[in-house]
Amino acid sequence: MLKIGIVGLGFMGKMHFRCFKSLENIEIKAICDADANQLQDTSGVAGNISGAEEDLDLSNISLYSDLTQMLAEVQLDAVSIASPTFMHSSQSIEALEAGLHVFCEKPMSLNSVDCRRMSEAAQQSGKTLQVGHCIRFWPEYVEAKEIIDSQKYGKVMAATFQRLSHTPTWSWDNCFLDGKRSGGAMLDLHIHDTDYVQYVFGMPKAVFSQGVIGPSQDYDHCVTQYLYDNESVIAAEGGWIMAPGFGFEMNFKIMLEEATLIYSSAQKPTFRIYPKDGEMIKPDIPEGDGYSFEIIHFVENISGKKVLSVITPEQSADSVKIIEAEKESIRTMEKTSIS
Ligand SMILES: NC(=O)c1ccc[n+]([C@@H]2O[C@H](COP(=O)([O-])OP(=O)(O)OC[C@H]3O[C@@H](n4cnc5c(N)ncnc54)[C@H](O)[C@@H]3O)[C@@H](O)[C@H]2O)c1
Repeated sequence: MLKIGIVGLGFMGKMHFRCFKSLENIEIKAICDADANQLQDTSGVAGNISGAEEDLDLSNISLYSDLTQMLAEVQLDAVSIASPTFMHSSQSIEALEAGLHVFCEKPMSLNSVDCRRMSEAAQQSGKTLQVGHCIRFWPEYVEAKEIIDSQKYGKVMAATFQRLSHTPTWSWDNCFLDGKRSGGAMLDLHIHDTDYVQYVFGMPKAVFSQGVIGPSQDYDHCVTQYLYDNESVIAAEGGWIMAPGFGFEMNFKIMLEEATLIYSSAQKPTFRIYPKDGEMIKPDIPEGDGYSFEIIHFVENISGKKVLSVITPEQSADSVKIIEAEKESIRTMEKTSIS
């Protein structure tokens, strides 16, 4: 039985709770949240992705307001960190140094210096640190990567990714709308596509980005081109300045030599393949979402099962590094190289 502690019981903490709870041989032993009200609020999730779900049952779980005390008093194998972004590095390092495996929400941290400290702490502890880049596990994105890697429809000529949300006004202490604590929409939201671009196409040589400052006082909407040593056109647009009625949508369009792949979270079927020759194909996409699949991966990994490497701490840090380059490009209005 693996003993899990959850850190931060907001929107994503509740998601982690449900994902772990649905697995066998897992016991959620403790939850830590600095805000007592959050530990009282066991209602279904809010936010931009899911609708309301069943209430959480916290009986037989030890509740804490302080991580250090939780780590001292409860015997755990791993913690799952879903606190605001500016806490990720210190809390992850503390848990790793206490000898625990760590699942930590994306973005890994506010800056790449702290990301490096987290990677080093993971190496020194010999424990697993998995950052929650759920899009690497999201079924339609997994399917697209498999098609691209197989080259069955030839090479990628162009790909565009979009991730748009209404303004997130629901977070604890309004953290999302404080760029100093969230990194703004580029680090918080758009990083999902940056990370997927890195996963599929590797590190870009440079980026060119344009963006606009929004309610977080950081860049809250951007369009970025990822530049490689070939002629493909890879771009992503992301932000959270959409009007309240819009909700949330993520999508991509991938133009291969012999087919076009289309995904939209707002359409049914969500994923379509248009081959150059022949009828449109609706591939069978596994039920479930990237949140559950990434936590299954984490659990299998820390249980000693052989799993493919999907996301390393260094790759998560690289995604933060690319976002930093994107912001630099916006500021300088020039292409920014990535070393
Ligand atoms: N993977 C995704 O798709 C996804 C989606 C949403 C959010 N996130 C990330 O998850 C993190 C949390 O976002 P959220 O939407 O759950 O925010 P939230 O505001 O709903 O929840 C944050 C929780 O952390 C708690 N907290 C504050 N200080 C704490 C402390 N010192 N120790 C423990 N808990 C503390 C708050 O009380 C709150 O309950 C952010 O880094 C965000 O970027 C990821």
